[in-house]
Amino acid sequence: MTATTAARTTIEQTDLEPFRAAYAPDDKPLVDALLKEAAGDVVVEKLIDQRARGYIDDMRSVQVGLGGVEDFMREFGLTTREGLAMMVLAEALLRVPDAQTADRLIEDKLAAARFDDPSGPKSDTWLVSASSWALGVTSRLLHPGDTPQSILSSLVRRMGMPTVRVATRKAMQLLGHQFVLGETIHKALERAKTQETKGYRYSYDMLGEGARTARDAERYFRSYADAIEAIGKAAGDRPLPDRPGISVKLSALHARYEAVNGERVRDELLPKLRELVRMARDRNLNFTIDAEEADRLEISLDVIAALLSDPVTEGWDGFGLAVQAYQKRSRHVIDWLVGAARKTGRKLMVRLVKGAYWDTEIKHAQENGAHAYPVFTRKAATDLSYLCCAKRMLAARDVLYPQFATHNALTIAQIIELSGGKAEGYEFQRLHGMGESLYKAVCERDGFPCRIYAPVGGHKDLLAYLVRRLLENGANSSFVTIVGDASVPVEALLKRPQELLDNGHHATNRSIPLPRDLYGASRSNSAGVEFGWAAERNLLVSGMEKAVAPFTEAGPLGKGLSASGDAHPVFAPMDGSTKAGTVRFADKETARKAIDNARKGFETWSRRPVEERAAALDKLGDLLEENRDRLMTILAIEAGKCLTDGIAEIREAVDFCRFYASEARTQFGEGRLMPGPTGEENRYRHRGRGVFVCISPWNFPLAIFLGQISAALLAGNAVVAKPAEQTPLIAYEAAKLMYAAGVPEDAFYLVPGEGDIGAALTSHPAVAGVAFTGSTETAWAINGTLAAKRGPIVPLIAETGGINAMLVDATALPEQVCDDVMMS
Ligand code: FAD
Ligand code: 2OP
Repeated sequence: MTATTAARTTIEQTDLEPFRAAYAPDDKPLVDALLKEAAGDVVVEKLIDQRARGYIDDMRSVQVGLGGVEDFMREFGLTTREGLAMMVLAEALLRVPDAQTADRLIEDKLAAARFDDPSGPKSDTWLVSASSWALGVTSRLLHPGDTPQSILSSLVRRMGMPTVRVATRKAMQLLGHQFVLGETIHKALERAKTQETKGYRYSYDMLGEGARTARDAERYFRSYADAIEAIGKAAGDRPLPDRPGISVKLSALHARYEAVNGERVRDELLPKLRELVRMARDRNLNFTIDAEEADRLEISLDVIAALLSDPVTEGWDGFGLAVQAYQKRSRHVIDWLVGAARKTGRKLMVRLVKGAYWDTEIKHAQENGAHAYPVFTRKAATDLSYLCCAKRMLAARDVLYPQFATHNALTIAQIIELSGGKAEGYEFQRLHGMGESLYKAVCERDGFPCRIYAPVGGHKDLLAYLVRRLLENGANSSFVTIVGDASVPVEALLKRPQELLDNGHHATNRSIPLPRDLYGASRSNSAGVEFGWAAERNLLVSGMEKAVAPFTEAGPLGKGLSASGDAHPVFAPMDGSTKAGTVRFADKETARKAIDNARKGFETWSRRPVEERAAALDKLGDLLEENRDRLMTILAIEAGKCLTDGIAEIREAVDFCRFYASEARTQFGEGRLMPGPTGEENRYRHRGRGVFVCISPWNFPLAIFLGQISAALLAGNAVVAKPAEQTPLIAYEAAKLMYAAGVPEDAFYLVPGEGDIGAALTSHPAVAGVAFTGSTETAWAINGTLAAKRGPIVPLIAETGGINAMLVDATALPEQVCDDVMMS
């Protein structure tokens, strides 16, 4: 049996229920439930106060400061965004192979920053593209238009060149040493010895995540495998849990570790992971699967279920994972794990963290048009959730070994007092380079065991990890930031989440709008699909299956047009033989008639109040969402769109409708008079030009098709649209919805056909404008046709293809380059 079939068989034999809790429930009822669960005992609360106060005093009294980055930021008086910009510069410089060139680049970049006008155009894009600046950094920290370069420019002006130069070098040193225990596992093991003698345990984290290629994944696999061997050799003979371990990110082990690729993950990632788990078991190490983005939770638990049912984890207490308390599903994860451990007779090491990807989660949910957030939006709710998870874990110590990872003194005090002040059956964890002063007291003085999570590797794999640490160190909600500010009284740090949440009245953060409300009153964000939630993904897929028949029989549409000619089959591009539907192409006579009729339609449509036109397009947006499953099916079969592309396509079309409707209201609405060329006398109202011909391509057969049309219609034009000959079916469906939404049949005409029909349309003398997306060659041909016409100049709005060159130098983050290439 091959490893792959073995893994698959095991998954099939798993009798564990898959984990499928609600992905993003509403905050309020959830917080109410947490408040009930967390209700504490007054005596215990007093003990917590006492202990936490002591730890805070310990932290504040340590002369050496709180740690490298915090000290660095304070020494130079940097704000978080400035600290981030500086680290981004430093990180990019570290990638330069030789120190001399790095030094010259510092001079060069800072000199450029000195003269850079932050309000002017950003001529030097070096730092913008050299770093993954946007990586998880939200508007919480950045101002619109902020780039590392623009922030550095103001820094140079504020502090002067010499100070910024010193700070940059310091930042480079910090990056090399502060967060990374060693560049190789051997160096890290050596450096760990000092702390081990003080009683600390280690979990080594081989830097590198988010593999983009199979080769990356293989490299990361090898580095984990080599590390496990080296850690095993150096581990000594103490029993678990007092043994070192390894922390593994599944995103490093497979380039397609995504919710929509469940099968590949099972077939390809699971056997690799199983091999690493086997190696760790043979050496009796602690093996932890790190928690990553929320949309990967279900798929990671599927993999974990398979491993729990596999003999590889039998009779070994070192296997485990991290659980993020900021996720609204966290308590369910703990319950599921306890159930799974009991059912399979395993004991798991479970690391409870609050979560390191909060900014990313908020941003992704907004981008994805989610109906709500999968993470809490109030820090106090995260803290409360952590407490409730901790209680459950402490109560299940027969099957779990809880590992509480936090740098928050109050959280630590709560855990200790909840467990009766005893250090039994659990440990704490801290990150290398953080929380030293706190754990000096907790671990070295008070004897509570603590494991240090220690990144190992070269700086080229550091950036993603680093950005998370910088956000953690700089966020003003972060415990480590607040405790470092001596002006904040201890009482403020002792406030319980229950108090901050005000009995659930402040369960939701009102300054973070729900994703659908992102654009305020002007329009709603289009609704997306959460592919990381099987329930929602399955609903879409089953809806699509039901929507397969009937096939579309497309043809010309519009008042006075009729379908003539033969019905041609339309074949799916996936195999060239599956029939997607049929189409009757228009002939030249039909094309001419469409324009003539649209001219008449224009007379009435252009005089309709803007609000009526906008309402029709808003309605079209809603209808597109209501008919999502059928549209998805047609997009999949006719245009070869996969699930994620199909949803993105529909959402873009919906956004176009709503965006242009909203723009029309503000730009052409009642009372919007524009000054004419010679003053008041000649004021005129924006109005349509006449008949617009819209010609769209096959690659975005719904979004570009509707984008062109909706803009033209809302401006008061009548439209004759010719979709790409490869994708007439989706255009036909959209056209029917357009009429259903209230666009009159004489204001919009659909004329499917090949290139000759496009030419017939654009050469018609009555055409008042053309919107075209496609090849440069065709755009030039249309341009020639329009230029040759007598009469008023006909505008051509052309969006054409092209190939851009991209120069990448050593300072660039390869993963970012890869993403940029894919996006563009
Ligand atoms: P605190 O300052 O008390 O809490 C910070 C938490 O509050 C963060 O989770 C933050 O996102 C959250 N928060 C901030 N603002 C809000 C808001 N408005 N609404 C809701 N929540 C908010 N993280 C992972 O994701 N996966 C891992 O595998 C992982 N492994 C770790 C291992 C170790 C040993 C340690 C120490 C940490 C690990 N982390 C991991 C990182 C961890 O999530 C952060 O260090 C942690 O969240 C900081 O928590 P704290 O209690 O120290 O700080
Ligand atoms: C992170 O990589 C520590 O796993 C946590 O941010």
